[in-house]
This record gives sequence, structure tokens and C-alpha cells, in this order.
Amino acid sequence: MSLVFAINGQRFELELSSVDPSTTLLEFLRYQTTFKSVKLSCGEGGCGACVVLLSKYDPIQQNVEDFTVSSCLTLLCSVNRCSITTSEGLGNSRDGFHSIHNRFSGFHASQCGFCTPGMSVSLFSALLDSDKSKASAFTVVEAEKAVSGNLCRCTGYRPIVDACKSFACDVDIEDLGFNSFCKKGDCLPRFDSEKRVCTFPEFLKDEIKSMESGVYKWCSPESVEELKRLLEGFKANGDGVSIKLVAGNTGTGYYKDEREKSYDKYIDLTRIPEMKEIRESHSGVEIGAVVTISKVIAALKEVKVKMFGKLAVHMEKIAARFIRNFGSIGGNLVMAQRRQFPSDMATILLAAGALVNTMSLSRGIEKQTLEEFLEGSPLEAHDLVLSIEIPFPRCETSSELRFETYRAAPRPQGSALAYLNAAFLAQVKDTMVVSCRLAFGAYGTKHAIRCKEAEEYLCGKVITEKVLHEAVTILGKNIVPQDGTSNPAYRSSLAGGFLFEFLRSLITQTKDKPSNGYHCDPQKPLPVLSSSQIVPIHNEYHPVGQPVTKSGASLQASGEAVYVDDIPAPANCLYGAFIYSKKPYARIKGIGFKESSVPDGVLAVISCKDIPKSGENIGLKFSLGTEPLFAEEFTNSVGHCIALVVADTQRHADAAANLAVVEYETEDLEPPILTLEDAVKKQSFFEIFPFLYPQQVGDTSKGMAEAEHRLLSSEIRLGSQYFFYMETQTALAVPDEDNSMVVYSSCQMPQYVHTTVATCLGIPENNVRVITRRVGGGFGGKAVKAIPVATACALAAHKLQRPVRTYVNRKTDMIMTGGRHPMKITYTVGFKSTGKITALELEILIDAGATLGLSVMMPSNVIGALKKYNWGALSFDVKLCKTNLLSKAIMRGPGDVQGTYIAEAIIENVASSLSLEADTIRKINLHTYESLALFYKDSAGEPHEYTLPSMWDKLGVSSKFEERVSVVREFNESNIWRKRGISRVPITYPVNMYATPGRVSVLSDGTIVVEVGGIELGQGLWTKVKQMTSYVLGSLQCDGSEELLEKIRVVQSDTLSMVQGNFTGGSTTSQGSCSAVRLCCETLVKRLKPLIERSDGPMSWNKLISQAYAQSVNLSASDLYAPGQTSSQYLNYGVAVSEVEVDLVTGQTTVLQTDILYDCGKSLNPAVDLGQIEGSFVQGLGFFMLEEYITDSEGLVVTDSTWTYKIPTIDTIPRQFNVEMLNSGCNEKRVLSSKASGEPPLLLAASVHCATREAVKEARKQLRIWKGEDGPGSTFQLPVPATMPVVKELCGLDIVESYLVWKLSVNSR
Ligand SMILES: Cc1cc2nc3c(=O)[nH]c(=O)nc-3n(C[C@H](O)[C@H](O)[C@H](O)COP(=O)(O)OP(=O)(O)OC[C@H]3O[C@@H](n4cnc5c(N)ncnc54)[C@H](O)[C@@H]3O)c2cc1C
Ligand code: FES
Ligand code: FES
Repeated sequence: MSLVFAINGQRFELELSSVDPSTTLLEFLRYQTTFKSVKLSCGEGGCGACVVLLSKYDPIQQNVEDFTVSSCLTLLCSVNRCSITTSEGLGNSRDGFHSIHNRFSGFHASQCGFCTPGMSVSLFSALLDSDKSKASAFTVVEAEKAVSGNLCRCTGYRPIVDACKSFACDVDIEDLGFNSFCKKGDCLPRFDSEKRVCTFPEFLKDEIKSMESGVYKWCSPESVEELKRLLEGFKANGDGVSIKLVAGNTGTGYYKDEREKSYDKYIDLTRIPEMKEIRESHSGVEIGAVVTISKVIAALKEVKVKMFGKLAVHMEKIAARFIRNFGSIGGNLVMAQRRQFPSDMATILLAAGALVNTMSLSRGIEKQTLEEFLEGSPLEAHDLVLSIEIPFPRCETSSELRFETYRAAPRPQGSALAYLNAAFLAQVKDTMVVSCRLAFGAYGTKHAIRCKEAEEYLCGKVITEKVLHEAVTILGKNIVPQDGTSNPAYRSSLAGGFLFEFLRSLITQTKDKPSNGYHCDPQKPLPVLSSSQIVPIHNEYHPVGQPVTKSGASLQASGEAVYVDDIPAPANCLYGAFIYSKKPYARIKGIGFKESSVPDGVLAVISCKDIPKSGENIGLKFSLGTEPLFAEEFTNSVGHCIALVVADTQRHADAAANLAVVEYETEDLEPPILTLEDAVKKQSFFEIFPFLYPQQVGDTSKGMAEAEHRLLSSEIRLGSQYFFYMETQTALAVPDEDNSMVVYSSCQMPQYVHTTVATCLGIPENNVRVITRRVGGGFGGKAVKAIPVATACALAAHKLQRPVRTYVNRKTDMIMTGGRHPMKITYTVGFKSTGKITALELEILIDAGATLGLSVMMPSNVIGALKKYNWGALSFDVKLCKTNLLSKAIMRGPGDVQGTYIAEAIIENVASSLSLEADTIRKINLHTYESLALFYKDSAGEPHEYTLPSMWDKLGVSSKFEERVSVVREFNESNIWRKRGISRVPITYPVNMYATPGRVSVLSDGTIVVEVGGIELGQGLWTKVKQMTSYVLGSLQCDGSEELLEKIRVVQSDTLSMVQGNFTGGSTTSQGSCSAVRLCCETLVKRLKPLIERSDGPMSWNKLISQAYAQSVNLSASDLYAPGQTSSQYLNYGVAVSEVEVDLVTGQTTVLQTDILYDCGKSLNPAVDLGQIEGSFVQGLGFFMLEEYITDSEGLVVTDSTWTYKIPTIDTIPRQFNVEMLNSGCNEKRVLSSKASGEPPLLLAASVHCATREAVKEARKQLRIWKGEDGPGSTFQLPVPATMPVVKELCGLDIVESYLVWKLSVNSR
């Protein structure tokens, strides 16, 4: 019996008995086929990188059904008789790219490209759906939804949405963002005019008709009767047979332990017709348990009863489309029943009065209410849910039926579990509740529940403020999360808020001021994303300055671009997984495995004992020092690398690492240092080299003496942020002849990987070669943190003399890589009554973790960005604390983002204490050129380079700042449940140029190969380098030199070919690499010019090169760009205005609009720089608003998955996103007058945080009135990130109760 399916039209047949039924489709695709476009990023259904199109053929109806699934959760056996289409199946470099691929490229919507194949397939599927259905056209709203569950960490989503919208039937071309189509006047071909992609090959259709299923480990019964027989058979064979019922298998995204288990039998439920049906009768709708959520949604939308439509709308917020397409309604309820899954389905169906039909071997078929089902003892493995019935709600004719559902979650459109969800059904007569059903779930409860006490209380009551207050109070007592649930008070408060929202309109005697929307309707969709870009293009250095599309973008979209894990595994390849410390400070006594048996497939456990005699236990070696690879006697933090377990597959290696048991001893050891305060107490600090310590400015005691007001010892705390690159850490090490080693590493610093590997193995550096082609996102996390990953693989490969690779899983990556530096800041600020600040004194404690790494740069970065304002005089004491917490890495804008935030927090504090607008205080303290030069010395540049004050004013005008401030004020006066805030924030960002090499070689056919030290991380480095090459070689003015750009290929970095590669980071590597290439090309021009001069007339490029070859002219030039002392640092400027709206019931912040003005100098490539501006802004938005990096008391990160760590998605970015790039003109000291764009714009996201604080301030003002509190109210700080619970807490967890009490007292007057 075999498993037959097709991938991109190619037939696959596998002997069923030879397939491990727990194999996922992703594992098969990536490890057993050549189709590598399917990327692994989270492995839990939370990111969309692995999305494929799955097509099923119905031989009776003769139709093909296509839908997306996450291949990381889909089991290979469940694709029997299916066809799979991946991004390279849509189109590719050989057969021609699909228009979707070209669209992603033309809209500059692919940076590192790791997310792009998944995005492409998601978009393709959405287009296919609307193309097939004819009824529902592909509109801009659909376009935004098409990829709403897919994560991208680079682009900031705006260009992705535009690429999708470009296919919409209702799109106005003028509304599309910056792209390379409209410019050329090309029309955008419609999707249906496409060459069709055949998603289901004919041969498979023919075969399906004659296929049967068999009874192996994987069984696919075709009727309930057959299933029953099977189950009885297994039972009769004794209880020793372990079975797993499988529908979509998406549940394993949450319950990962399920993946580790191996069952004797897997029973596929999806081929049983009775369980796939949806039947509507006079009493309601019955849905088979294996019907996918997507199909349930579609069916419910057809039912002409309002409640069903509302259920469907709520279900659209469950997970992402590619999960709903495969995850079943029954699977969801079983997860909720058996394992307390925080389900939405259970809550909303509970309110709807659903019934569940089950079948068990002992009790036969039963019908239960959903409530009984949820409350029953957990289902046994053999128990089956057959179907779910949703009855039509009954209502007396004189009454009205109301049904609403609610959920509060970090992402409004789904792809995030709810803090609490609720659904209410009520029969209402005038203003009286006749009967009601109130369901709540996901708040840290065993399962969804009905709050009977509140239901009983409300029955028969006319709704008044008093009644509502009592009902809300009852909920507060009943909706109490279990111990250990995060944000319990917040979750409880949501229950009352939602009930208030549901019943409030029934209150008769409401005397509120007219309000234009008392609260966001939870079902109201977000406004469609809209944007504008003003991008200056200049021709001076053509093609430099042109918005050339990113090199290889289409290749990235089709998924053919090769990342480290896409390199085919060499013969005999082994796989590694890290064993890390779970103790912050302990003696390592030994390493073993659970139950003392060596897990499947394990060949070795590599630790410090395996370092060769001539080598050293070094995992990082660079100019500032060395750090060990593996812990030796002691662990220094949770996450500290102890060993690498090596096995025959990555899955076995990961499983073995999970089974590893490290024996620790803490006796006689000092307690670990786990807080900054501990570090201070123990004086545990890293030394900061004097040349890296920033300079104080002026005399703060004098400045303090001049001050009319002082705020003393105010405190700010900032936490961490995880990189969340889509490609986790990965490396492949291959032993080569003569004791040498080739290492493929996804890293930002190959040169340092090289030296570290050589030192660790004790071999000469010329025995090592490190190759890095492209990196699936770095953001600083693949700088020093990638080095031990590659070194460990090299060590294992050296020891075992076999290739060893690792692809670190997301959880381990989060635990071992760490993130931004947390810090504590205490400051005293002195200022005049006008708001002019005269002095600032700071004490900054930075948690560097257990080892120093690159933390040395933190003090100067924090202070560098903080100096954006004229503080009068500035003094500080910065300490790098050495703790027993994971060593911190430098993340995009390292220290700078904290510095900017500290400055803004101080400004806001000053403004609050003077009761002045923060914007006024910002403006008054902006530098003049003179004060700038005092604070920044040489890097301040010339007076005309200081563009910030004019940018401040310009953005004020273009964003209509003043007008909008008034509109916001009016809005806040007339809305009590929503408050808005608007804020304008400037940034100043110093960057340094670094030495970097390049080589340009011309081949005999005239094509050009370029090598540079910089790594392509998605930041468009290769594209800019190509443009620079073309510009300089173009100066030869040969015929055809305008096509030079097409002839250039930038190739992978190879540390033996290009030495002194240095590192990629600090926002200037593209500029540095361009400078190096420029030097090389200038050499080539010098060599080639005489040939042109000697020729009679114009000469073509190809002829020139042939002659040069004939005359043995050296056509390869290499050089090292080394910046001069004076030109190595310069300042970058930007301003942003953000406006937000806060929902006071849920604490949700919607970014209504952001306007950015950023000085890019003469941009080398405006399209690339625009992408950097938008992308880094959105990453900053994540830091300020969403990304909670929570650790336990010992430092273990607990938000360690896509379930708990929430990076921005399409629905959390500014709804109106306007970016203007400023061309600030010539500057000879910079590379063709360009400026940096990679990191500085991240800091502009502080504007969103500041605007949120403004909105919260308004909410607090209102709350004080309701509570009858006089006076200005205490100043407050809005923590970072300002998540929903944080915002709600500051707006008042008891806001609803306070309002009702206040209303009652007003009414009684
Ligand atoms: C990334 C992600 C985000 C999600 N977000 C949400 C969310 O916000 N809200 C929400 O409510 N849900 C959410 N879910 C849960 C999702 O709805 C469920 O994973 C899905 O519905 C389960 O269906 P399945 O067919 O894949 O079940 P499976 O994974 O196949 O099964 C789940 C469990 O149920 C058992 N089982 C399945 N069907 C039956 C049956 N008919 N009878 C008896 N046992 C059965 C299986 O043996 C297994 O133990 C999310 C899931 C993912 C992966
Ligand atoms: S890798 Fe499958 S959804 Fe993230
Ligand atoms: S381009 Fe989307 S993750 Fe890099």
C-alpha cells in the first residue's frame, strides 16, 4: 500500500509501511525533495513561512479544491492523493517567474526574502479563491487579509500589502505604494490573464479513482462504521496499542509534546464522509467534526440567521487562514476539552447553545450540550467527536434577540490567542433582559464557562446603570483566572467591559453627551491600510540613486534563493542541537539523558572535552577579547551553551537535546546575580575602555543651579527585545582535505567565525573557509551570536570527520540568543519654567549579561542618541553590569533606541510637571547648530548638514500637526471610551564608517563578478553594490554600458577569497562596501581607459573586454576601503508624527497614522532605503508596543514562541503610513553624499509610544473626574512595551465600574 501525491506536478509514491506517520510535510519537502522554497521558521503554525497550497480532487464532483496549509504541522500521510504547490511551482527562474513573484520584486516587498515564498503562496491561494468563486472578487480588503497571518520581520508589511493590492479589482493605481511598474508606465496584468498554474495534475486524478486505503500505522477509514471496527480491533488487541486520531494535526503547533510522541496507530478522520458534512435542518446546523474552520465560516455565512454570521466573523480571527484551512472544528473543541486549550470556538459555541455528538466504544453515540461536554472528564484516546450542532436561537415574537462575540488579543485580526474571549446571547424586551447566556473563555480557565450567577441576576431585569454595575461586579467575582495566568486582573476586567458594551445601549436614561462612537465596535474592520511615499530620485550618479529593484528579489519570492539550510546535505551529514544550561550559576556534574538510554539516532555529545589538544575552548574571538564555546566547570547563565548533541537527523538531535539531563550542583556557590541591583551590590561590572566611554558635556552643577525646577531621581526601566529573524541560527561544517574545514554560516561576521573556528580547532587560519551567501534576517542577532553556532558545528565535524549542520529551533534560538540590553536609568533633570532644560544627570545600569560580547558599545550608543536634545549640561555614570543572565546581543539600534526613549521620557516628565505640551518642550530643547557641535563635536558636520530643525517644521506642516492636535482634542472631548493622542518625535543617530574590502572582476564575456566584505542580510547591500559598480565602470562610456547593471553578479562572501571582511552592522556596511567597490572599479577604469583612447571610434563594452583579455590587461581589482579619521562618524536625522487611538475597555492601541520625514542624503537606492525606513520603524513599533520579553526569576525566557512573543503583523502597523525621504544634498565626506537608513528610523517608533502616553493621559484625566479626584493627578510613566494590559491598567482596570458609579451619582442629583 502506498502514499501517492504530487508536488509541483511531480509524482511521488512512498511505501506506506516505510513512512513514519509523524513525519511532517515540511520535513519531507525540505529533506527529501529539491523543493526548498518552503521555509522553516517557527514550526508551530505561527508564521506562515512554510505555507504551501494543498489541492484535493473530488472524483465524483470532478472538482479541485485548493487551499493553503502550514506544512510544518501537516502530516505527510494526510496528503495522500493530494497535490502540493510550492512557490517554485508557481514559477521560477528557468520557466519564468510568476507575476506574483515579479510583483513582490517590483513593489520592493522582499528584503531578506525568507518570508516571501510563504507570502507568495498565500497570495496565490487568495487570488485563486476569488478567481474561482467569481462571486467574491479580489478586493483591496481581501488583499490585506490574504497575507494577514504571515510574519515578516524586515519590510514593515506596507510594500507587501501594496503588492497584494496591486491584483485587486477595486484598486486605484494611484493609491499603490512606490513601485517599479507604474513608473515605467507598465500596466499591471490582472491575475486571471495569467498563464494558469495547474494545481492538480491529470495523472493523479486518474490514479485516485483506483486507490484504496490500507491498515498500516496510518489508517484512513472511510466510514464511521469502519472507524468503529478499527477502534474495537485495536482495543481487542489490548490497551497497549497507542492511537492518535488525526484531523488537521494543527493542534501539535500548540501541544509540541505531541510531536515527540510516537503512536502505534494514526487514524486519519478526514476521509469519513459523515464527519465531513454540513447539514442545515429546521432546528439548526449540524457540522461534522472534521470540517475545517474555513469551511465552517463559509457555511455559517450562508445561513440567514444573524447569530451565525457573527459566529463566522469571530471565527475569522482564529489563528491564520492557513491554519483555519486545515484545522477542524472538532479538533479545536477536543483540545479545549482535553487539554484546556484557550479556545475561541468553545466560548462562542457555548453562548450559541451548541450540542456535541460523540461516540465512545463503551457508551456508544451520545448527544451532550457543549457545556456538559466541556465539563466531562477528558476524552479518552478512542473517544470521538462526530459532529457539532448549532441550534437556531429561539425568541418570543415580542422580544428581540441579541448576540455578540468579543475577544481582546494582541493582534486585532487574529493570529494571537485572546486574553479573554466572550460571547453573549440575550433575549431582550424593550430594555429588559428576558433571558441570557453569557460565555467567557481563554482567560486562564479550565474551559469556557457560562457565568450563571450573572445570567440569573440579569434575567427579568430592566437594564440600568445600577443593574449593570451589579452584573459587572458579579463577573469580577466569577471570572477569575487560575493561579499562574499572566495579567489576571486585566483579564478579569475585560469580562465586565465586554458585558457593559453588550448591554449599555439598553440603558434608557442615558444622559451622555452625544458621542461619535462610544467604543470601537469589535466587529468593525480596521480601516484599510493606506500610505504615501515621497522618494527623491536623482540621476547624478546613474544608476546609483535609482530605485533599482532588489537584486534577486524574484528568486527569493520563488524560493530558489539559497540560504544555509537550503544547501543540500552532503553525504553522511549529521545534525546538531544545543544542550543549554537551565541554571543561572551552577557546577556541571555530568550530562546524560532521561532514563539513561541514548536517544534514537544520537552519535555523540560534543562538549568542551572534545576540544582538540592544539585548540582552545573558544566560541568567540575578536578584537575586544574571547569567550568560551562550551561551559566548562560552571554555567554562567540560563541558556549558556553546554554541549552539542549530534544525531542522524535534525529531529533526532532536537529530541535528544530535549531529553538531555544535566546534573548541576550549587552547593558552596555564591548565589547568582540576577538583577541589576544585585550587580551593584556586588560591584559586578565589566570594564569600559576609556576610548569607548562617551564624553560628558558642560558643568551639570552649574546647570542645576540655573534651573528653576528639578525632578530628582526619577527612574525608568527598559526590558529586552528578541531579534525574531525569520531564519534562525544555522550553520553547516564540512571537513575537507588536509585537516581543513569549510563552514557555511548564516552570520554577519564571517571573518570572526573564521578566526574563532581556527582557534577552536587549533588549525591555521588558511585551513578554514567560511562561506556566507545570504542571511534570512540578522538585526544584530547573527553578529557575535552566530559565531559559537558555526564553531560548534565545525568542532563536531572535526571530531567526527563528517559534515555537521544545525538549524536551531525557534525555542532554543530564543533561549540561547537573547536580545536587547535591559537597563535601569535614574535621572535628575533641572529646567526653567519655560521648559528649557539646563542640566541632566543620569545613572545608567545596563545588563550586559554573563559575558561582554559587543556590549562595550552600549554606553556610547545610549548617550549618542540621548544627546539629540540640548540638555544644557550633561553628566552620566554608565555601568555595564555583569550578571548571571544570558549575555546580551546588539540588536538593531543597540542602545540608541533606549537613548532616544530615555530622552523622550524625560521630556514628557518635564512637560507633565509644568503642565505644558511635550511638543513645546521638545521644540524648545532642540539643538541649535552651536549646541549640536558642543554635544557631538566633529560628527556634527557643517552647519548646513544639521537638517533636523527644518525637518521638524517641515513635517509639522506636511503632517498638519497643529490642526490634528486640535482635532484630537475635540475627539477626546466627545468620546468617553476611546481616546486619541498625537506626538512628534525627532531623532539624531550617530553612525561610524568601518574598513571593508571589495573585489571586482570582469569575465571574458563581459559579465562582472563582485565580492565584498558586507553580507546581504536583506538590507539591499548587493543591489547598491551593483549600482556602484555600474556607475563607476559606466564612466568608460562604452556602447552598451547602460546595460552593465544586468551583467553584474555579487557573489557569496568567502573568507579565503576576501580577507579582512570585517562585520556587517552599524547601518554603514552598504556604504562601506560601495566605497570598496568604487576603488576597485576606478582601478579597472584606469587599466581600461588606454584601450579606449587607442581605439578609432566608439567601442562596445564586450569588445573592450575582449581586447583587454587579448592584451592581458588585469581585469580583477581588489581594494580595502578605510575611512579617514574625520569622515568616519556622521549624524542621521529624522522626525516622526504618530497618532493613535486607545480603546479604554480593552487597552488596545491602534496606530491611526504615522508620518515620517527622514534625511537620507543622496540615497544610493531610494527604494531600498525606503524599505529600511519602513521596516525598521515597524521593528521599533514592536519594541515599544508589542513585544513582551518575559523571563522567569532565573532568567529563562518564557515568551519563547510565536504563541507568546508577538512581533508586529499587518494589522498592527499604522493604518495611514506616510514616508518622505529628504535629499539633503551634497556632502563630499560621505559615499556619494548618501546617509544611513538601516537602524536610525527604528527610533522613530518612539513617537507611537509617546502618542499612546498622550491618549492614556486623557483617559486618566477622565477617570479622575469619575472618581471625584481633584488636582492635576500624579505623573505616570507608560512602560515599554505598552501592551494592552499595560495601557488598560493605566487607564483604570475598574474604569467601567467607576463610570457606572459616577453615572449613578450624576443621575441621582
Ligand atoms: C498558530 C495557531 C493559532 C491558533 N489560534 C487559535 C485561536 O486564536 N483560537 C482558537 O480557538 N483556536 C486557535 N488555534 C487552534 C486551532 O483552531 C486548532 O489547532 C484546530 O482547530 C485543531 O484542529 P485539527 O483538525 O488540526 O486538530 P488535530 O490537531 O488533528 O487534533 C487535535 C486533538 O484533537 C483530537 N481530535 C481531532 N479531531 C477529533 C475528533 N473528531 N474526535 C476526537 N478527537 C479528535 C486529536 O487526536 C488531537 O488530540 C490555533 C492553532 C494554531 C496552530
Ligand atoms: S514554520 Fe510553519 S508556520 Fe512557521
Ligand atoms: S523579507 Fe520578510 S522576513 Fe525578511
